[in-house]
Amino acid sequence: MSKTLSQEKKKSSRKKLPLGSNGLQFNRKIPRIGVKTIKDEVNQMQTEVTKPEVTPSKARPKAVKEAPRSFSDLRFSIVQLTDLFPISRVSLYEYHKTGLIKQVATRKSGAADSALFGWDTIEILAKRLGEKITKPTENKIKIFANLKGGVGKSTLAAQFAMRAAARGLRVLALDLDPQAHLTKILKFEDAELNALPNFRDYVFGGKTLEEITIPITPLLSLIPGNLSLSVLEMELFTKANREQKIAKPIRDLKSRYDLVVIDTNPSPSTVNISAILGADEICIVTETDTLSTEGLSSIFQVLKAIDEDFDYCPSQRVIANKFDVRLAMAQKSIGYLRDNYGDILLPTVIGQCQAIKEAQALHQPIWAYDRHSVGSKDIAAMTDELLRETAAAHG
Ligand SMILES: Nc1ncnc2c1ncn2[C@@H]1O[C@H](COP(=O)(O)OP(=O)(O)OP(=O)(O)O)[C@@H](O)[C@H]1O
Ligand SMILES: [Mg+2]
Repeated sequence: MSKTLSQEKKKSSRKKLPLGSNGLQFNRKIPRIGVKTIKDEVNQMQTEVTKPEVTPSKARPKAVKEAPRSFSDLRFSIVQLTDLFPISRVSLYEYHKTGLIKQVATRKSGAADSALFGWDTIEILAKRLGEKITKPTENKIKIFANLKGGVGKSTLAAQFAMRAAARGLRVLALDLDPQAHLTKILKFEDAELNALPNFRDYVFGGKTLEEITIPITPLLSLIPGNLSLSVLEMELFTKANREQKIAKPIRDLKSRYDLVVIDTNPSPSTVNISAILGADEICIVTETDTLSTEGLSSIFQVLKAIDEDFDYCPSQRVIANKFDVRLAMAQKSIGYLRDNYGDILLPTVIGQCQAIKEAQALHQPIWAYDRHSVGSKDIAAMTDELLRETAAAHG
């Protein structure tokens, strides 16, 4: 294993070798700006300059492909729509021609222009394709949890919620973590968090569901998280039958959405135990290293205790994340997971993928940020598998 790691280190350090002959990293921007500045100066000398000065960067043509600033800004090409919905390109071209779906923008792709469609098209296709769209009927409320931190709970919860909403499901993302990572990935910046409502405002603060729910796109809503959620734990402490104060309102969300995705922090807190009681399915995210996979038994102990105390246990899935094919330890972990949790292990293993990190920093789904990345294929397969109804219980 150490041999593989040192080989990898050599490989990556080789990639970082400076390209310039002077030993400096080649920076494309410097020579271009230099040339333009000189050109501007020559132009200025040749003509009587009466027009305002144009800086080189402003004079450059606008980038053809502008990255959307958020999930709600996304536009969909015909190819993307066929990836999201069970529909052929021919039918989509026909819908476009007859005006059933309306183009909202144009993207230059090579020599041709391609039509881009907005969220209203997603809604129209969702209605039109109705029964053909895979939706959970039993396990609508899915909670992402694990006692171990940093394994990818928020990342996968956000990617799952975004993809399901783009596939035409009415989705609610419920952030129960005071760190608010799900809230940040889906839309908001740090400075905005304190002003947002949260689930506590509904349970004990007298606000209505409508007041705490923020629409992100027509089909994706968010109940945000923020630091004041941590008060909830103390408030629950003094209440009789306290778990039901959270579990019941969570169960009641079921009638309003096709899917509820809950993100939690890594602790066996009353809030988390109550939320697990309100959920239909627990998605236990684990990293593929020996410590993480072997440490999984603690969350199953919590589930056992819940079962004994409340005579209820949600169905379970284990999702292996951050898999690095080059590491022998990762291969070993997958073997361990297959041997010990084979009945509930999601067939798709999510690979370690830098593009996932980059996408979430821009509030974007990985398949829109980099369609050809490993992460894009993995998240698509994970979503398919989670939406297909297969109740499971490990025992
Ligand atoms: N498949 C992946 N490939 C690359 N990076 C990933 C992947 N999944 C998650 N990450 C990164 O790992 C880090 C931890 O992820 P995340 O915050 O989702 O974990 P978490 O389990 O929710 O953590 P916490 O327990 O603190 O809530 C983040 O920087 C995230 O971008
Ligand atoms: Mg998290």
